[in-house]
Amino acid sequence: MWPSSSLPSASCTAAYRRCGAAFKFHRLRERRTNISCLVKLKGYRGFYNDLDQGGQIVKLTTKLLAATAIVSATSAGAVDLEVMHWWTSGGEAAAVQEFATAVNENTEHNWIDGAIAGGGDVARPVMVSRIIGGDPPAAFQFNHGLQAQELIEAGLILDLTDVAEEQGWEDIVNPPSLLDACTYEGRVYCAPVNIHSWQWMWLSNAAFEEAGLEVPETWTEFVEDAPALREAGIVPLAMGGQAWQQNGSFGVMAVALAGLDNLLAVNRDKDASVVRGEAYGQVFQAYADAREMAEGLDVQDWNQATNAVITGEAAAQIMGDWAQGEFAVAGMTAGEDYSCLPGLGEIAILDTGGDAFYFPVTGDPEIEAAQKEMAALMLSPEVQVAFNSVKGSLPIRGDVDLTTVNDCTQKGLDLLANGDTMPSGNQLLSPDTTNQLNDLMTEFWNTPSMTAEDAQERYAQIIEQAS
Ligand code: BGC
Repeated sequence: MWPSSSLPSASCTAAYRRCGAAFKFHRLRERRTNISCLVKLKGYRGFYNDLDQGGQIVKLTTKLLAATAIVSATSAGAVDLEVMHWWTSGGEAAAVQEFATAVNENTEHNWIDGAIAGGGDVARPVMVSRIIGGDPPAAFQFNHGLQAQELIEAGLILDLTDVAEEQGWEDIVNPPSLLDACTYEGRVYCAPVNIHSWQWMWLSNAAFEEAGLEVPETWTEFVEDAPALREAGIVPLAMGGQAWQQNGSFGVMAVALAGLDNLLAVNRDKDASVVRGEAYGQVFQAYADAREMAEGLDVQDWNQATNAVITGEAAAQIMGDWAQGEFAVAGMTAGEDYSCLPGLGEIAILDTGGDAFYFPVTGDPEIEAAQKEMAALMLSPEVQVAFNSVKGSLPIRGDVDLTTVNDCTQKGLDLLANGDTMPSGNQLLSPDTTNQLNDLMTEFWNTPSMTAEDAQERYAQIIEQAS
């Protein structure tokens, strides 16, 4: 509980919720107010007071460098490296273990696992508050793209350019957009570790069989199957309760049903007239149908929704390819037990989003050396194969083979090889805009009386304001 004197005000809480962890504020004053809110919310009252007395982010940075970091050199050269991430589902935990083993076995350093349950939206603010609160981990996972930009601008993130040059990232990272997403003003600030794509639907073969249906090959066919699935007591579409799942699925439906040009006009060019147009109108209608198809399953986390597909309680889920890790842990075989439709079977496209590790500045040369060693190790061919085979993602190196890939991963690799790719939402939309869209789409999802037209207009207004 908060002592009443330090309770964040309602407007502070609202500002924090609106702006999330990204500090995407345009005026210094606003920036100070919101950082103060975050700091207060996390209980760092000393920093709060300093900032109130006229502190700026530069001052905060200086203070951070002097602060004691949680990462520590244990003996000459050996460092305890706390690594924060949100990989807590069964498949994710198995994958991150590959990194931990690589660090523990190939270096003299120790991987200290800093998993945060609840997904990226819960984890990122915690990570940011640790960093700005002077208690940074050695490394943290973010999606590559715009999420870390403000931390980089504030000088809080270690420059990895020398590692990138030494390991030749420019030649090995594929597609090059992944390295671009780690680069700011010509310097490299993150180590990309995988390619994950959102544009997938996962289907339970058993559920369709039970309903006497063939596994559909497109979204359109799937929608036609929904009544028969219901009759068989199966929830057609699994959806978890977190806002990012609902907004993410909408994005997948948008590119599948309205096409790539329309999606880019909205997400990249911020053209609100396209949101108000007919093609997007159909996506909102389809999304309202999806809301109905998901009735009857009450789960929160994405992997609980995946589990409903695994058990056959639900027939399908729109989710990124990290879902494959869950099918693998459940011992299911792609093609036999479950099927996958990239682009919902409507369009041959995958985004090249994914995860990257960022390394906070600590000012300690020994820690810095260990952080750079870890960054290089994460991109080594062996670790890339070990990690990505378990994670359900694709390696970021064009020069490694995933020796035995399943049907679904092969489909992903083929699309990548054909260049059927697009930028991820995190590369096109600021975290602030994404948070607003998350809020809107979860409101729509949870408010049956809200019409597709209402959501469409409010979506357009957000895009109109988006930077
Ligand atoms: C990450 C994945 C992760 C998923 C669900 C995504 O943002 O890129 O690595 O598995 O969230 O936790």
